[in-house]
Amino acid sequence: MKAIDDRRLSKVTPIETPYGPAVEKTFVSAESCLREADVYRRMEGSGLRCAKLLEQKEKSLILSRLFGEDYVSLLARQEREGLDLHPWHSLLAWTISFYEITGLIQNDMNLRNFLFCDSEAVGIDFEDCREGDAGGMLAELSAFVLLYDPPMTENKTCIAGLIRDRAMEQRYCTEESFGKMQEEKLRQLLERRRLKKISRAV
Ligand SMILES: Nc1ncnc2c1ncn2[C@@H]1O[C@H](COP(=O)(O)OP(=O)(O)O)[C@@H](O)[C@H]1O
Ligand SMILES: [Mg+2]
Repeated sequence: MKAIDDRRLSKVTPIETPYGPAVEKTFVSAESCLREADVYRRMEGSGLRCAKLLEQKEKSLILSRLFGEDYVSLLARQEREGLDLHPWHSLLAWTISFYEITGLIQNDMNLRNFLFCDSEAVGIDFEDCREGDAGGMLAELSAFVLLYDPPMTENKTCIAGLIRDRAMEQRYCTEESFGKMQEEKLRQLLERRRLKKISRAV
């Protein structure tokens, strides 16, 4: 069966198992596979919504398949249909619980790493997780939101404001430090995008 997202380094392929629909995620290294499995174990039994780790192999994991809309599509849809803040509140609640339960930040807050399933956010992709600053994690989320095409729209600015307010409410950072971290993340993402464009052109 065709992989779900061919552009990434790891490969995610839908499969059928005796436990029901699943995906097999194949990693580039055994280390990233171990890291992701470890995060699934930290979440297990915590009540945090996530896929179920069904089987662990050296370089791949079998995970229960989640059915939902990824947040890149959801954001694009809301640009056409109007802003609904519920999925964003749900995403923030999930991310904050993830940090509190695992003690880790996700460290790759691109919106393809979150699915909206049955009216609730669920995170996926934990191979880059590490200990870190929760304010920085939310500032990265906000920077990603702002830069999806078309960038910096009224909706996106509103979602970024919601993320900033929540980061302050949680006492992860001040408004000023959030602004600085977000600016730095925006700079890094724009630089990464510029380098990608150059490498595609050569
Ligand atoms: N458990 C799952 N159920 C359904 N789709 C998934 C699942 N895990 C991953 N995917 C899909 O595969 C894509 C890539 O998975 P991800 O874990 O983010 O790997 P990568 O490291 O390649 O970004 C996701 O954006 C999502 O669309
Ligand atoms: Mg991913």
